[in-house]
Formats: sequence, structure tokens, C-alpha cells
Amino acid sequence: MSTNLALVLPAANEPLRIEQRPIPTPGAGQLLIKIHAAALNPLDCYMASVGAFVESWPHILGEDYAGEVVEVGAGVSGWSKGDRIMYTDLKGSFQQYQVIPAEFTFKLPSNISYDEAATTPMTLATGFVGLFANSPLGVGLNPTFSRNQPQKGQSALVIGGSTSVGQFVIQQLKFLGFTTVVAYASARHAEYLKTLGATEVIDRNTVPLNNLPSTLARQFNVVYDAVSAGDSFKTSVASLGPGGKVVFVLTPPDEIYEKLSSEGKTWARVYGFTHRFTPGHDEFGRLQVEHVPKLLEEGIIKPNRFEVLPGGLRGVADGLERLRAGKVSGVKLVVHPYETEL
Ligand SMILES: NC(=O)c1ccc[n+]([C@@H]2O[C@H](COP(=O)([O-])OP(=O)(O)OC[C@H]3O[C@@H](n4cnc5c(N)ncnc54)[C@H](OP(=O)(O)O)[C@@H]3O)[C@@H](O)[C@H]2O)c1
Repeated sequence: MSTNLALVLPAANEPLRIEQRPIPTPGAGQLLIKIHAAALNPLDCYMASVGAFVESWPHILGEDYAGEVVEVGAGVSGWSKGDRIMYTDLKGSFQQYQVIPAEFTFKLPSNISYDEAATTPMTLATGFVGLFANSPLGVGLNPTFSRNQPQKGQSALVIGGSTSVGQFVIQQLKFLGFTTVVAYASARHAEYLKTLGATEVIDRNTVPLNNLPSTLARQFNVVYDAVSAGDSFKTSVASLGPGGKVVFVLTPPDEIYEKLSSEGKTWARVYGFTHRFTPGHDEFGRLQVEHVPKLLEEGIIKPNRFEVLPGGLRGVADGLERLRAGKVSGVKLVVHPYETEL
């Protein structure tokens, strides 16, 4: 271990380039991680094009990390060299090594591979925070991760059921006890989404989003809008029953909030992180770190299906183009940083 190859974005809309960087040293409370697998997210496209959430340039993209502990910082207990982890933040997983806070790192159970783990932490958290955490983080369906199926008998609609977020949300709704879980997605994913917990799949290539409320002709206790663009906002509101709760992954127009408010409904615009993002994230993040490894080990939560891109970090540029073009369907794109050549 002598060098850290990183995929660097010099500024918004500039070409990505590989750089040799020093391997960071873990400070107090930190772990040094060798990153075995990292996943691509639509957020990387926004960050690369408009600099959203970028604190300073140059920046290293990548929010999902899976790897092993290679050094333990001062004051850290419960972690050793060789431990397998997954983790999420905005400080860059498209590199070979990174330091991360031990407190918000997930222990990886032995049944989950590094590639599977890379598909998981950010979009899984986007589901858990939006559905389980109390307001203002989420709509508060299960802030203690109770296993008592608190929503038994209720119904939910997932717009964008085959998105990475949507696949986790379907599993979380099943865990919550929802009796009806309708997913809006391409029909080719219907059988798979049913294995995750969907009770019905509406083909998005047959029913346009704005026709969904009249096609379904029923109202739901909960709507999770994993698309949050175009007609999805109005469709979400129109699909909610009295006292209903809706989660958006991106910010809706003001008129949507006004309508929900006038109808006495509950909503959350989720930020799917485990820590440091807004007040309350840290506390709920610690709960996620406690519960998620068990849910993965027991098979209650299954990672996304994935496709490994060739060329290590050099594969990211093409992967981002596919995401921008809407050419990624029902899988997560993953890279292996250690396969990168200078
Ligand atoms: N707020 C947060 O913290 C947060 C965190 C993570 C993601 N997000 C956002 O959440 C959204 C989903 O992210 P992701 O990573 O889960 O996406 P993703 O897996 O890359 O999404 C790809 C899927 O989107 C589906 N899709 C596209 N347009 C659709 C539509 N109109 N209706 C239904 N499905 C549609 C496609 O479905 P088919 O293959 O079935 O056609 C495709 O499988 C993105 O906008 C992302 O930026 C927000």
C-alpha cells in the first residue's frame, strides 16, 4: 500500500481525471478504508454538472463505499484491521482509500459481498430516513425500527419501484407490515419487485404517470415518490387518502406543499444520509448502523442487483453517461477502484 489513485473532477462539467494522491491517515475516531467497490448514483451526475453539494474543487465523486479496514484511528473501539464495512457520505468513494468516521460505519455481514454492499448505503438510507424517521427527516412510520409491523393492513404506492431507492422502499414497506404495496415501474421488473414485497406492479410504459390516479382509482395511506420529477408530484398528491403521508426524494414545487398542507397531509423531502447532513441525522444514523447489518444478515433487506463496469475508476465516466441518458434500468453500476491503472 503506497499510493491512492483517485478519480478527480477539477470543476463542474470538466473531464474526470485519474490522480495519484497520498493515502490519508486516520484521525481520532476514524477508520482508514481500502475501497473494494463503489457505486454510481444519479447524484454524481448533478454534482458533476452543476456542482451541487460540492464543498470545494477539485472534488472526488462517489457516495457509496464498500471495503475493509486497513488502519484504526485513536480512540476507536470495536473495529479491527480486516473488518468489512459499508458506508455513505459525499466526500468521495471514487478512490482507492479514504478515512471515514467509525461511528457511522456499517459492519458488513458475511453473506453480503463488497459489490452488493456498494449498491446499498445511500439509497437504503433514503428509504429508511424518509419512511421511518420522525419529522422533519421523514414521515415517522417506525422511528425505533420496531419489528411489530406497525402498518399492518395499510396500503402504499411506490412511484419508481425499480429505482435503487424504490427497491429498498418496497422491502421496507414489507418490513413495516403494509398489506398492499403497489409499485409503478417497467413491467420487465415486475416479477423481481414482487420477490421484494410488491403486491402489484403497474407498467409505466403502459400507464402514463398522470393517468396513474384514475387507473388505480384508490387512495393510499403512504406514497413514496422515488421519481420526484414532472407529473410525479401531482400524481403523488392525487393518490393519497385522508391523513396520508408522502415522501419526496427531490424538492417539489411550492404549490405541492400548499396543497398537501391545505388537505392536512404529512410530507417529507428526504435527505438519505446517516450523519452530518441536517439536525437529527446523526441520531437516526446511529440507529441505522445498529439495525441495518442485522436486516442484511437475515435477508430482510436485499441489496440491489449490480453490473460491474470495466477499467476500475476509469469506467465511471461511461457509467455516468448511461445514467444521464436514462440507460440504467433496475441495476446499480459498480466500479472496483483497485482495478484502476495509471
Ligand atoms: N434525497 C436523497 O437523499 C436522494 C438519495 C438518493 C437518490 N435520490 C434521487 O432519487 C431518484 C432515484 O434515485 P436512484 O438512485 O434510486 O435511481 P436509479 O436507480 O438510477 O433509477 C433508474 C430507474 O429509474 C426508473 N424511472 C425513471 N423514470 C421513471 C418514471 N417516470 N417512473 C417510474 N420509474 C422511472 C427506471 O425504471 P424502469 O427501469 O422500470 O423503466 C430505472 O430503473 C433520483 O432522482 C435521485 O437523484 C435522492
